[in-house]
Order: sequence, then structure tokens, then C-alpha cells
Amino acid sequence: MKIIMLGAPGAGKGTQAKQIAAKYSIPHISTGDIFRANIKNGTELGKKAKSYMDQGLLVPDELTCDLVVDRISQADAVNGYVLDGFPRTIPQAEALTNALNARNEKIDYAINVEVPDSNIVNRMGGRRACLGCGATYHVEFNAPKKEGVCDACGAELVLRDDDKPETVQKRLNVYHDQTQPLIEYYSKAGAMVEVDGTQDIDVVFQDIIKILGE
Ligand code: AP5
Ligand code: MG
Ligand code: ZN
Repeated sequence: MKIIMLGAPGAGKGTQAKQIAAKYSIPHISTGDIFRANIKNGTELGKKAKSYMDQGLLVPDELTCDLVVDRISQADAVNGYVLDGFPRTIPQAEALTNALNARNEKIDYAINVEVPDSNIVNRMGGRRACLGCGATYHVEFNAPKKEGVCDACGAELVLRDDDKPETVQKRLNVYHDQTQPLIEYYSKAGAMVEVDGTQDIDVVFQDIIKILGE
């Protein structure tokens, strides 16, 4: 099963993608997590990506597309994957479609996690992220067992550099300009489905399972 998560920054793409990956035994591939891991490890890619991410801007397509096409070609992705945060521009979607067409494959579901902008800014200030494994928590809605420590891997939890309110607003603007057009793109491809992301995390996940099947 090949799945794309669409939705605004903070809509809950990562939260749901992790659970989908676990339930259907497919890898969770988050470009944001890949870039953050590269920043943490001080790689060339990380240095380039950080300058865009800290401003709430998108990392250029030429640094992003080949990375994802390589990743979905790895052995653990033969039975599918859940892509989280990619594609987020029309050229990225076209690069993905071309790579899949070349193998006679297609995206089965593009899941739009729908949350209005007014809910987003509040959510982001409470988010805590694990730079070790990419897990995401919320101080109020999804707290770790021990404050400041990742349940999954024991690493320290941090407030992401791009979760400051002014940067969140910029990311929302970028989302509406560059990423929202993908809803029409995947509607035309017959893959678009939608869930109400303002519900509790578990309820959103149950709605996704109803779509994907047990
Ligand atoms: P990325 O890491 O993808 O960030 P994003 O799209 O802005 O999305 P977030 O990770 O902020 O939100 P999310 O939807 O995953 O929500 P989450 O589950 O964490 O990208 C970061 C940056 O990297 C981009 O700005 C860009 O610069 C660059 N980048 C990445 N991919 C790129 C690409 N393809 N091309 C170019 N540049 C790229 O949930 C948010 C919070 O809410 C959490 O605290 C969570 O616990 C909580 N929460 C989740 N669901 C609920 C719920 N139902 N109710 C209450 N709280 C909830
Ligand atoms: Mg995320
Ligand atoms: Zn962790």
C-alpha cells in the first residue's frame, strides 16, 4: 500500500503516519525527519536544508526529489510506504508520478488531514519532537510518560526551531501557496481521501483505518 499524507503543518501527518506504518508494516518516510537527522549529524545536506527550514521555507526540489525516489527504491519499501511531507509542490508530485510510472506503480491513497489554520498555531507551541527517532508528542494532547524524554528511544525531546509562532504562520502561507494545489492533483489521479484532523488522535486514526481497511 502506497500512501501520501497531505495537510497543513501541524495537522497531524507525522502522528498518523507513524501509526499507519506500524499497523500495515510499511516504512514511514518523512522528508522533515530526514532533513532534521541530517542537520543533527552536520551533513552537507543538513546545512543546506537548515537555512530554508528555519525560515519556514521549502527546501528546493532538487535537494528533495532524488532523495525520496532513492528511499522508496530500498528493499523495505517493496510492499509500500507512507510518505509524510512529500510531495509538497507540483514538481515534486510530478517527479514521484514519473518514478512510479516507470515501474508501473501508483499511489493508492493521498490522505488529506484537514485542520483549519486557527487550530494549528495553538498545537505547535505544545509540540515536542524527538531528534533521535522522529517521534512527536504534545504536552497536553499526547504527553510522553516522562517529561522531556522520548518513550520510544529515551532521547531528549525538544521544541523544533521552526515551531515559533511567526515561523508557523510563514509555513502555513507556504502550505497554502505551494502544497494545497496537490489536493486537486491527487483528486484527478483518483487517490484523494479526506479525514477530519480536529478530532482526537485515536478517532482520526480509526477514520483512516475505515478507509484503508483492516
Ligand atoms: P515537516 O517536518 O514535514 O513539517 P510540516 O509539514 O510543517 O509538518 P509538521 O511535522 O510540523 O506537522 P505534522 O502534520 O507532522 O503534525 P504532527 O503529527 O507533528 O517539514 C519541516 C520543514 O522541512 C518544512 O518547513 C520544509 O522546510 C522542509 N521540508 C520537509 N519536507 C519537504 C519537502 N518535501 N520539500 C521541501 N521542503 C521540505 O502534530 C503536530 C502536533 O499536534 C504534535 O504535538 C501532535 O502531538 C499534536 N497532534 C497531532 N494530532 C492531533 C490531534 N488530532 N489532536 C490534538 N493534537 C494533535
Ligand atoms: Mg511532521
Ligand atoms: Zn525517540
